[in-house]
Amino acid sequence: MMAAFLLSAISASSLAGVGEGQELYNAYCQICHGILGEGQTMGKPLTDGPANRLADQELIDVITDGRAGTGMVAWEGSLSETEIFDIASYIRNLQGKPALSLGDDDSGPSDDPNVIAGAELFNGSANCATCHSYDEKGGSVGPSLDGLGSRLDDDALMQALMNPSATIVSGFGAKEVEQEDGTIVRGRFRNDSELAVQIQSEDGRRWVTFFKERVTAVRDSDESLMPDTFANLGASEQQQLLAFLKSL
Ligand code: HEC
Ligand code: HEC
Repeated sequence: MMAAFLLSAISASSLAGVGEGQELYNAYCQICHGILGEGQTMGKPLTDGPANRLADQELIDVITDGRAGTGMVAWEGSLSETEIFDIASYIRNLQGKPALSLGDDDSGPSDDPNVIAGAELFNGSANCATCHSYDEKGGSVGPSLDGLGSRLDDDALMQALMNPSATIVSGFGAKEVEQEDGTIVRGRFRNDSELAVQIQSEDGRRWVTFFKERVTAVRDSDESLMPDTFANLGASEQQQLLAFLKSL
C-alpha cells in the first residue's frame, strides 16, 4: 500500500498539468470534498451549481486565499501557484469541463482589427519596435512592453505616450556625452566606472564606451529617449496603437 502510494507520487511529479492536479487533489482536498468532488461532511461539493459558476480566476482565488471562517483554509504557502493551477484544472475536469487555460485566452493573437492595425504601426511606420520589445521581439533601448495593459492604467499610459519625459522609467534614463569637438552623443546609460561610461546608441545597435579623460562632460539627461511620435499620429492611428498596447 505504502509502496503503491510512493510510486504514484513519484510518477506524478514527472507529469505536469491535470495529472499532477489529480494527485494533489487526492492528497489534500479529497478528504473534505470527496474523491470525485461530490462533497463530504467537512466540505461542500465541487461539482454543484455554485462551484460550476465560479469563474476560472475565482476558482484559483478560493484555493489560494481560502474562505475565512470556514474549513476552507488558504493553500497559498503550502502549494505553489502551478500546483494550485493544476488542481483547479483537475476540478474543472471533475465538473466535466476542459482544463483551465488562463492567460492563453488573451495572449493568443487578437482578432480585433484595431489591435491588428496597432501592431502593424508598432512594428512598422511608428517605429516603436526599434526601442521596445514584446513577446521577446524588438529593441532594448526602452523597457519591454509585455504586460503593459495591466501595469499602466489609462492615464499613466497616455502620459507615457504624450509626455515621455514627465516620468522616466527607472533604469531607462538617458546620458549625454559631450566630446572634445563639441558634438553631443545621447543614449541609454548602461555602465559607469571611474575611467569610462558606456551608453547604448539611440537606435539600439551600438554600445559605446567613452573614456572620461577624453570627453568634456558626461551628463544625466532629464529628457526621455522616447520621441514624440505618438503625439503626432492621427486620431485613428492613436486609437489603434492604444488598443494594441492595452492588449499586451
Ligand atoms: C478541512 C476541509 C477542507 C479541505 C482539506 C479543503 N477544503 Fe475546500 N472547502 C471546504 C469548505 C468547508 C468549503 C466551503 C466554504 C464556504 O462555506 O464557502 C470549501 C470550499 C471550496 C471551494 C469553493 C466551492 C464553491 O462552491 O464556492 C473550492 C473551489 C475548494 N474548496 C477547493 C479546495 C481544494 C482545491 C482543496 C485542496 C487543495 C480544498 N478545497 C481543501 C473545506 C475544505
Ligand atoms: C528611441 C527609442 C524609443 C522609441 C522609438 C520609442 N520609445 Fe517608448 N520609451 C523609450 C524609453 C527609453 C522609455 C523609458 C523612458 C521613459 O519613461 O520615457 C520609453 C517608455 C515607453 C513607455 C512607458 C513604459 C513603462 O513601462 O512605463 C511606453 C508605453 C512606450 N515607451 C511606448 C512607445 C510607443 C507606443 C512607441 C512608438 C510610437 C515608442 N514607445 C517609441 C524609448 C523609445
